[in-house]
Amino acid sequence: MQVAGIREVGAPVELIDVSEPRPLAPDEVLVEVAAAGVGNWDEFVRSGSWDVGGGPPTALGVEAAGTVLAVGAAVADWSPGDEVMTHPLPLRDQGTWAPQLIAPAALLARKPADVSWEAAAAFPVPALTAEQVISEALDVDAGDLLLVQGAGGVTGGLLVALGTLRGAQVIAIAGPASRQRVSALGAHHVLDHHDRDWPEQVREITEGRGVAAAVNAVPGHAADALRAVADHGRLATITSDPPAEERGISVSNVYVRPDGNQLRTLAEHLAAGALAIPVASTHRLADAAAALARTISGHAGGAVVLRL
Ligand SMILES: NC(=O)c1ccc[n+]([C@@H]2O[C@H](COP(=O)([O-])OP(=O)(O)OC[C@H]3O[C@@H](n4cnc5c(N)ncnc54)[C@H](OP(=O)(O)O)[C@@H]3O)[C@@H](O)[C@H]2O)c1
Repeated sequence: MQVAGIREVGAPVELIDVSEPRPLAPDEVLVEVAAAGVGNWDEFVRSGSWDVGGGPPTALGVEAAGTVLAVGAAVADWSPGDEVMTHPLPLRDQGTWAPQLIAPAALLARKPADVSWEAAAAFPVPALTAEQVISEALDVDAGDLLLVQGAGGVTGGLLVALGTLRGAQVIAIAGPASRQRVSALGAHHVLDHHDRDWPEQVREITEGRGVAAAVNAVPGHAADALRAVADHGRLATITSDPPAEERGISVSNVYVRPDGNQLRTLAEHLAAGALAIPVASTHRLADAAAALARTISGHAGGAVVLRL
């Protein structure tokens, strides 16, 4: 089987030949991949700083959407022909940048019929990350003032939408090009991240107190978000660079966790149109290296997807 991946840790992404999928374990499904998401987190896998299971030579990729081809002996919930999406970690065999994927059945969610393969493929990682920030790390309550720094990004937009669904009042920090989209997702205020004094603007909006909860989705900017948090508030960052705690503020660093139950609930929100994924570009498997470079640039302008 020809996949897009690496021959060894740190090697460039290229098309490589790997074995055909092995026979399924009882709890596994075989998925014919229609599309796979590409994120800058794949660069962490390529360079060896995120262990997702498996090992080179291997396909990269940690999220996908496709059609179930076969199910293991103990799988009752899924059948051949079902359209699904998944964040299947730890990988059972190969990554998702491959024509076929072995995934644990427990980590599948149904792909909404009206959602494109591309959007479904790019949904699992940012959606699970956002959910785990909003419902776990920050435990956002209805009425909370929630700051989302990096709201113009793919994960940032889902943070705004999920915070809004929980009844929070969202103050979003985003660039001018993202303002309209972020407002449409439910943000009460959208402040421009080019204004260096935006943390002070947040203080003004909140009558000096700051927000109860904040999430940072911009590498190197967690400390800016911290400035806007009220004493004894909560800050989460998804950028692996949490600032030191101060003023009684709890600080957490969130790294996405596979969770089938959460993904199935998120898929219902996606089906209902309460969540969405803006797809910026679609690439062939042979162009996976270019697709990865595009996400690493930080200027992809939406999700980057491989179409099989
Ligand atoms: N920990 C985890 O498990 C996990 C999971 C998913 C993602 N992440 C990380 O989270 C980060 C964001 O992910 P993403 O999917 O949202 O990325 P993305 O779609 O590439 O978003 C980047 C966006 O951030 C905005 N931005 C840039 N500089 C900014 C600043 N100074 N202040 C506010 N916004 C700024 C830009 O939008 P505008 O200028 O148009 O507003 C840009 O489009 C990435 O570093 C990613 O690796 C971590």
